[in-house]
Amino acid sequence: MSDTSFAPRIFSGIQPSGGLTLGNYLGALKRFVQAQDAGTDTIYCMVDLHAITVWQDPAKLRHATRELAAGFIAAGIDPARSILFNQSQVSAHAELAWIFNCVARMGWLKRMTQFKDKAGKNAENASVGLFAYPALMAADILAYHATHVPVGEDQKQHLELTRDIAAKFNHDFGVEFFPIVEPVIEGAGTRVMSLRDGTKKMSKSDPSDMSRINLTDDADTIAQKLRKARTDPEPLPDSLDGLADRPEARNLVNIYAALADMTPDAVVAQYAGQGFGTFKPALADLAVDKLAPINAEMTRLMQDVTEIDRILGEGAARANAIAQPILDQCYDIVGLVRARA
Ligand code: TYM
Repeated sequence: MSDTSFAPRIFSGIQPSGGLTLGNYLGALKRFVQAQDAGTDTIYCMVDLHAITVWQDPAKLRHATRELAAGFIAAGIDPARSILFNQSQVSAHAELAWIFNCVARMGWLKRMTQFKDKAGKNAENASVGLFAYPALMAADILAYHATHVPVGEDQKQHLELTRDIAAKFNHDFGVEFFPIVEPVIEGAGTRVMSLRDGTKKMSKSDPSDMSRINLTDDADTIAQKLRKARTDPEPLPDSLDGLADRPEARNLVNIYAALADMTPDAVVAQYAGQGFGTFKPALADLAVDKLAPINAEMTRLMQDVTEIDRILGEGAARANAIAQPILDQCYDIVGLVRARA
């Protein structure tokens, strides 16, 4: 159920921890552009404060943040139509996160699978920030009273927590102040899997670079990674049911569908009976066709990082103008005295 008392507004974020993958592109970025182009109020953020929940080399973090901004713009985000900025330049995120740390319960955060995955067996040694991360993510969204959040499937649990935090805050203070956000998880690309293992998510943290396509990969690398992607010897079936136990094949069909703006059904109908000797080169051509222009534009934009920094600074000022009054009202609701003129 969407919250109709708030004007529709989209917020989403991507971590600048390493490069952008095809998973980020199909699960998030491509859909961010569609939302912007549909005329919705859109706010997109490079979540650098999230990235530092695990150690980041400062020079690499700066580079990754700028490169991510270049990726957003190269993929079609227009900084004049969408607000584009990096999280640490708007202090309302960190401030509201503290309020939410006091609203969220330990038990809620302990259930978060991303923490369990990232902390692994050594949870005692994980940063407190990694544990508290979902409260910051809730703050990112709710600092703008955003109503809709496009993400890949892996972020669904965090968005459920965001709803729980908003509902508990509203209930505890007897207000209808924060919207109950709606996750937007749609299309064939919401869970792009590893090219080496169709049961694992494609991820920038996978040790094997062959498991993923990076938006910075050149055409030859993209084609080679797709040609070498793990598959099985069977040809493609004539319906999706035939892919139920073939996760690698299903993943490549999904990637094709998401890149071509087709349904997976239409892809299997087109390639029914054909082997991967035909399908993989077709997929590689399609991927290069869609990704090479983005790659080229990112490289061009990265030649002028001063301009990227200017865009992020301007985006941050616009973001702050929305978030600060919401934070002020939130402080008033909580009973925090603010006596500055
Ligand atoms: P992050 O940086 O891991 O990923 C950014 C976006 O890309 C999506 N994604 C994928 N989609 C499909 N298949 C994949 N293999 C794949 N890998 C990543 C993610 O679902 C995400 O949409 N916690 C978030 C960042 C965040 C955020 C927010 C998102 C912080 N604050 C507020 C939305 C709203 C994260 O770690 O995403």
